[in-house]
Amino acid sequence: MKRGGTLLFLKEGLKHYRECGTLLPSSPKLAKAITNAVPPLKPDDVLIELGAGTGVVTRELRARFPRNRIISIEINGEFVKKLRYEFPDVEIVEACASTMLRILKDRGISNQRVAAVVSGIPFVSIPDELKPKIWGAMAEVLEPGKPYIQFSYIAAYWTKKRVPGFERDKRKRVWTNIPPANVFTFKRQAAPQESRKTAHAR
Ligand SMILES: C[S@@+](CC[C@H](N)C(=O)[O-])C[C@H]1O[C@@H](n2cnc3c(N)ncnc32)[C@H](O)[C@@H]1O
Repeated sequence: MKRGGTLLFLKEGLKHYRECGTLLPSSPKLAKAITNAVPPLKPDDVLIELGAGTGVVTRELRARFPRNRIISIEINGEFVKKLRYEFPDVEIVEACASTMLRILKDRGISNQRVAAVVSGIPFVSIPDELKPKIWGAMAEVLEPGKPYIQFSYIAAYWTKKRVPGFERDKRKRVWTNIPPANVFTFKRQAAPQESRKTAHAR
């Protein structure tokens, strides 16, 4: 059974605005645009979702990739309860996204199997000291050439942004979301320039 998420999102968004970054969940059209940015997957590939919220993107990922393992990492306990109820076949982990390497290790999942990271983390509003920890963890987890897909309502922040270890690949605007949103795809660089042992929370 599907339970409405808009009121829950509004309530949690008002309580934890910096973490949520907005008061409304993404629209289904934005969720489709995000999912379209994920490349075709092999049966053994694993998808990582960061900041699943009330599950709008999770639902689309699950529908598009019904047989792949999906691990959704969400920090908000109220969202986690809803996600676990609604997506029994998605691994919902209540944790900070910066710990994703440990989460994979605990499950015996090698980096080679991680096909993409899809993120709704509101980097514009979360604390500055947390950002390099999450990006560093992502750079540890993704093999060269693999995509990090990020959506955001604040395009200006991302158009100038250099994410360490990643190169900008594509951008798609979604005008039908409220507010209009952008889906940015970054590609993990083959990187000799930065250490694979960058700071991240384990
Ligand atoms: C902009 S909302 C996106 C929610 C959902 N993906 C959507 O599109 O409607 C951001 C989400 O990231 C979660 N979040 C924020 N910081 C986080 C962190 N450090 N680790 C995991 N989740 C985090 C918030 O709790 C919230 O659910």
